[in-house]
Amino acid sequence: MTSEGAARDVAVSPDAATLARDVAGRLVRRLVQLQAGGRTPSLVLTGGTIAEKLHRAVLEVPERAAVDWGRVDIWFGDERFVPAEDPDRNALQARQAFLSALPVDPSRVHDMPASDGAYGDDVDAAAAAYADELRRVLGAAPRFDVLMLGIGPDGHCASLFPGHEAVGANGLAVGVRSSPKPPPTRISLTMGMLNSADEVWFVASGEGKAQAVHDAVTGSDFHAVPASGPHGSALTLWLLDTDAASKLPPAANL
Ligand code: 6PG
Repeated sequence: MTSEGAARDVAVSPDAATLARDVAGRLVRRLVQLQAGGRTPSLVLTGGTIAEKLHRAVLEVPERAAVDWGRVDIWFGDERFVPAEDPDRNALQARQAFLSALPVDPSRVHDMPASDGAYGDDVDAAAAAYADELRRVLGAAPRFDVLMLGIGPDGHCASLFPGHEAVGANGLAVGVRSSPKPPPTRISLTMGMLNSADEVWFVASGEGKAQAVHDAVTGSDFHAVPASGPHGSALTLWLLDTDAASKLPPAANL
């Protein structure tokens, strides 16, 4: 159990491709379960390479047809603040990887604003507009059912980077400048918003993430290791391949 009292679990798959398939299957089953309980799930997607793999793997999950994709609200944990058609966009990558092949309701896919959109190059206004959309759709205290996150080798998650002022931002969404991971300008959910989910799922693959995973799982200073910050109110999952899990302490010490 974590200090917050919620459950934490680690599941290890042998390699990246198997991890992607395992997480895709887990996601489909969770969406089916939530809808069976009468919910319209709010799911937060993340960017990055393992996210791309698992998104594509969703299209191979036999049970995917059991999800009423038109009744899932899809959000983004962060976005690169570039033009909407820029290949760097997480929303564009997600559409290309799986959303365009599923019967989602376009009005329920909530992209973060692009730099060629209504707010021009004003990333703060764009972040504020996303916060407004979160409140419009989810109410004054928005919460998610499943929030997925990747992790960087430096321990960042979403677009909250170690020592960056955005890590301490209040509110629901924040404009991020001078991101150490290109492109430099981004929008991110705040740490407070990353902690507003029933379940937080971290997905990580590769030896290059092993130290960051260790530091996130064992640490508590989220300014230094932002990925140590988000916890699900019910469950925090670490979904890893063998390499990314290679520096974790024995299960008993988690
Ligand atoms: C982004 C992501 C970012 C990503 C991690 C892991 O927009 O860049 O949201 O937080 O999830 O950097 O990315 P990789 O899986 O590509 O290492």
